[in-house]
Amino acid sequence: MTYPNVRMRRLRRTPALRTMMQKINLQPADLICPLFVDENLKKAVPIESMPEYYRLPLNTIRDEAKHILSQGVKALILFGLPRTKDGIGSQAYAQDGVVQKAVAVLKAEFGDDLVVMTDVCLCEYTSTGHCGIVKDGEIMNDPTLEVLRKVAVSHAQSGADIVAPSGMMDGQVKSIREALDESGFCQTAIMAYSAKFASSFYSPFRNAAECAPQSGSRKSYQMGFGNAEEALREIEIDVSEGADIVMVKPALAYLDIISAARSRFNVPIAAYNVSGEYSMVKAAARNGWLDERQAALEILAGIKRAGADLIITYFARDIGAWLKQE
Ligand code: PBG
Repeated sequence: MTYPNVRMRRLRRTPALRTMMQKINLQPADLICPLFVDENLKKAVPIESMPEYYRLPLNTIRDEAKHILSQGVKALILFGLPRTKDGIGSQAYAQDGVVQKAVAVLKAEFGDDLVVMTDVCLCEYTSTGHCGIVKDGEIMNDPTLEVLRKVAVSHAQSGADIVAPSGMMDGQVKSIREALDESGFCQTAIMAYSAKFASSFYSPFRNAAECAPQSGSRKSYQMGFGNAEEALREIEIDVSEGADIVMVKPALAYLDIISAARSRFNVPIAAYNVSGEYSMVKAAARNGWLDERQAALEILAGIKRAGADLIITYFARDIGAWLKQE
């Protein structure tokens, strides 16, 4: 059957028909909102490279979380900027560290109504800006695992629901699962940044979180963008090590990885719509070249259509209002 018997436009004729035919329905509850908590601040400071995004002092995160919940979003992920950095990133596991305090504040206020996730990585806490301990120019895998275990347990102790290791160290999921279980946190879940690519789209974030590597690059631990099989192997390994959720990051240049992972694994898949993907839309919108809202909704629908269950996105702060107006 073909034209004139088939007319695809029949079902596109009215808004009601179009809505009826839509298969991807983006919901605020699919989204996870990143927050930057900075121990050095008294008031919120705009992030230059990420328009309308802020570094927040501890005393504002309760209100920020309330705003996020009011959008219908249920989850946030915390990144910390500590007062001091050192060779092993010890502030990352300090019980009075900035993320630990933030988790405690949020859990005291919102309890189980809010899913609190934490990024488990060292790059904001090390003087080198690397995600692991550096010795003679090398990022050391196994000594870093020892530190990551402590970081994850300290977050769980503060009340985090989900810890998210993002350092791309081999064995990080296994080590963290063991450490959590040994400390009595068998209910704390792990969202693994499994397929994390060395990406130019992280630049605005590095400016926001002050975590750019001081020398070298992250290419000896994050993946190169030319290999999909390697990404699927990373995901497979993390699933076998006990990851509850796996992640592909960034999202837009890697929709094929999300799609392949979706068809191969039956675990929840998250995608990180990273800082560069956010800032590109913002920059174009500011120039009047794109409609920010329409572009963001189209991008998020695309990520979901590729197969992501959850999307970490800086647009989560605004999404509730946008979806209501759709
Ligand atoms: C830290 C980390 C990074 C991001 C999330 N966790 C930066 C990096 O690996 O350099 C990037 C997030 C974004 O760009 O939005 N390991």
